[in-house]
Amino acid sequence: MSADLVIAVDGPAASGKGAVATRLGQAYGLPVLDTGLLYRAVGVAASRAGVDPDDPEVTASVAGAVDLMALDDPALRTREAGELASRVAVHPGVRAALHAAQVGFSRRPGGAVLDGRDIGTVIAPWATAKLFVTARPEVRAERRWRQLVGQGETVTLAEVLEDIRRRDARDGGRLDAPMAPATDAVLLDTSEMTIDLAADAARRIVEAARANRA
Ligand code: C5P
Repeated sequence: MSADLVIAVDGPAASGKGAVATRLGQAYGLPVLDTGLLYRAVGVAASRAGVDPDDPEVTASVAGAVDLMALDDPALRTREAGELASRVAVHPGVRAALHAAQVGFSRRPGGAVLDGRDIGTVIAPWATAKLFVTARPEVRAERRWRQLVGQGETVTLAEVLEDIRRRDARDGGRLDAPMAPATDAVLLDTSEMTIDLAADAARRIVEAARANRA
């Protein structure tokens, strides 16, 4: 078995999983992939091409052609991109088109940190450590609202809470939903935690998982 350290950080929108993944990457010197950006890139590319995000076939071909390296486009961070991402993410063909790139990243020599919805279940079920990061919807909405307003978007807290609830329903409410925690994932509720506290707790979870494997 490989000694590479692969860390799966799953959870719903604005749960703190991105911050936790970034801190774990820094702590262990590992590359980090925010897989939500891949879905956002497909959603934005579809929209720019005038493609209906609810069309399973055409969005799958958009996903096959999208540049998965161009993830620093600020357009991917908008509220609209999040909504488009969650619509294209329901199509199995889109998920399949993004699968190999994510598995490839997870197999980097030395290891990697990936954050998303289905890392511990589908992309890297063999990961060394699996975290499922969550927080109460109201807390998540407030975090996402602050981020969006900081980016210059005009949106109310109530609208963001509505977005979060709709996305939770879409990401988790169907048979092939990607958002169920892996049975061996450790739950980390960040509702009452600062980023520093959440990062410390995440490291302890990773250390325990490593010790278990040794
Ligand atoms: O995490 P983020 O908010 O950027 O994800 C945007 C959307 O992409 C999610 O609402 C979800 O529908 C989808 N997604 C997914 N699987 C992943 C990452 C994101 O289905 N691994």
